[in-house]
Amino acid sequence: MCGIVGYIGSESAAEVLVDGLKTLEYRGYDSAGVAVIGAQGLDRRRAEGKLKNLSKRLRAEPLSGSLGIGHTRWATHGRPNETNAHPHRSGSVAVVHNGIIENYAELRTELQAGGAVFHSETDTEVVAHLVASLRDQGMDLKTAVESAIKRLEGAYAIAVVDEDFPDEFIAARLASPLILALGEGENLVASDLPAVLPYTRDVVFLEEGDLAHIRRDGVTIYHQGEVVERQSKHIKWSPAAAQKGGYKHFMLKEIFEQPRAISDTLSGRLGQNGEVHLEHFDFGRVEGVEHISLVACGTSWHAALVGRDLIENIAGIPVSVEYAHEYRYRRHLMGAGDLVLGISQSGETADTLAALGEVKSQGVRVGCITNVLESAVARLCSDSLGVIYTHAGPEIGVASTKAFTTQMVSLHLLALGLARQLGRISAERSKAEIEDLRHLPHWMEQTLEASKDIAELAPFASEFDNYLFLGRGTLFPVALEGALKLKEISYLHAEGYASGEMKHGPIALITEQFPTVALVGDDALKAKAVSNIEEIKARGGPVILVASEGSEELARVADKVVLVPKVPERLQPVIYSLPMQLLAYHVADHLGTDVDQPRNLAKSVTVE
Ligand code: M6R
Repeated sequence: MCGIVGYIGSESAAEVLVDGLKTLEYRGYDSAGVAVIGAQGLDRRRAEGKLKNLSKRLRAEPLSGSLGIGHTRWATHGRPNETNAHPHRSGSVAVVHNGIIENYAELRTELQAGGAVFHSETDTEVVAHLVASLRDQGMDLKTAVESAIKRLEGAYAIAVVDEDFPDEFIAARLASPLILALGEGENLVASDLPAVLPYTRDVVFLEEGDLAHIRRDGVTIYHQGEVVERQSKHIKWSPAAAQKGGYKHFMLKEIFEQPRAISDTLSGRLGQNGEVHLEHFDFGRVEGVEHISLVACGTSWHAALVGRDLIENIAGIPVSVEYAHEYRYRRHLMGAGDLVLGISQSGETADTLAALGEVKSQGVRVGCITNVLESAVARLCSDSLGVIYTHAGPEIGVASTKAFTTQMVSLHLLALGLARQLGRISAERSKAEIEDLRHLPHWMEQTLEASKDIAELAPFASEFDNYLFLGRGTLFPVALEGALKLKEISYLHAEGYASGEMKHGPIALITEQFPTVALVGDDALKAKAVSNIEEIKARGGPVILVASEGSEELARVADKVVLVPKVPERLQPVIYSLPMQLLAYHVADHLGTDVDQPRNLAKSVTVE
């Protein structure tokens, strides 16, 4: 939550910062601001609401200078207005911050007693006053920031400028992500890669507690006061990966990218003899496993539900699925045979991170599935079971799409890898599963052809205020995900239920105004799922049916039908997810909502 950028070079800092913030807006869009140091010293522009308001402001009142910092906000402390927008300023110092300063109230009281005058309700403003007060004591900028961060409790990625230091800025991080990007005669910091890729692909993922002193011609990284060397990495993503590429919305682009994303998830990981190779995950450490807990939130939790069935059925290991925010506060009754795996697209969801950290500190083996390279979750697990990267590429739309399907496929790979490691699957069976997986991108391409038909269905589907999504077996998590997608971007009320649960209460809701999206798989539960739909139809409820080819006769129980390719049962959750995403997208687009940046949400939930 919140995105920060810092730039020093020879270009217009305001332009570089705004371009960078555009790619980080998924992290929050309550307000945005930049501070630039130019010939006239330090100046800033801030605006409530989305980045476009700041851009408008900058067109009217431009800022010149080639050093600056920028911020896009998801409000935690203080309303989303201009006064609370970053950068926050104290004298010659300006600061942008992602995270939460937990001891801000105490610091604020202390700084006010020393004469500091606060203007905002934010926790961040204390950092600006703290650095300024240390500068007043004669410290240079780097020493002042170094001293200030020793006083901070909580999480921060900060970038700090001072008009008395027009050729440098300082950045530091603890428990919030920060990337240092190394260019030619220019250097940047940012919360995420897409903001820096147009300038350079050589980056350093700053470590916990690192502080970077950044100049045009170089950077120095410090850790606990000592200069440290950090290996830079060359990133292969093209900047185009974080652009809309002709699509109306990032979400639609990301939906259509899924066949490619799944190919990338599988790439280099499938052996000729049914073996699975996951490069950063250590199957050698799973010996003695008796139980796995999958811990996640939101869409990732839905993927975990699908993963439970895959691991239990393929590897024969019992699995529990846990909401990270609940799990972290429960008593953990674990033994030597327990493994805990976190699933998080962003790799920085606070609850997932805390849950993994908690059990790891008790000596439990932890691993994770994440999309973001070197993310906090990945780092936490790297010296234990390790990391499975989903390789979905940057997901900018706040509503997860390709993250979900690549997570499910990563869990499938994990299940196969575990089964092979523990000798619970034959090479023949594993080879057959792998063949199916190789064919999956093709089936996904075919499924996406339904987009036009689903778009035509959107005016009808948009007439209702409430929805039920029903599925059985492995399609139950897909029903949950379909409901989440619809409510998140169209603001229509939707609930996902296991079809068999209908008679136990929800059926009371059914009227001609209360439609159901029913998922019917081509599996052993098909007849039962159809009976559940008949019961809804008998009570006048409209039904949008998603079923596989060959089930055309089911049109009799539905008002609208979407057919998807018939695929092996284990792949149905991936295939059925696509019409769920397309339905939510087209309904939201028809209703004219802000599809990529739905109200009140941010993509990375880095606070509890
Ligand atoms: O980054 P994570 O996967 O940990 O995020 C978890 C949820 O916040 C996330 O899946 C959220 O539910 C999605 N935006 C829903 O589309």
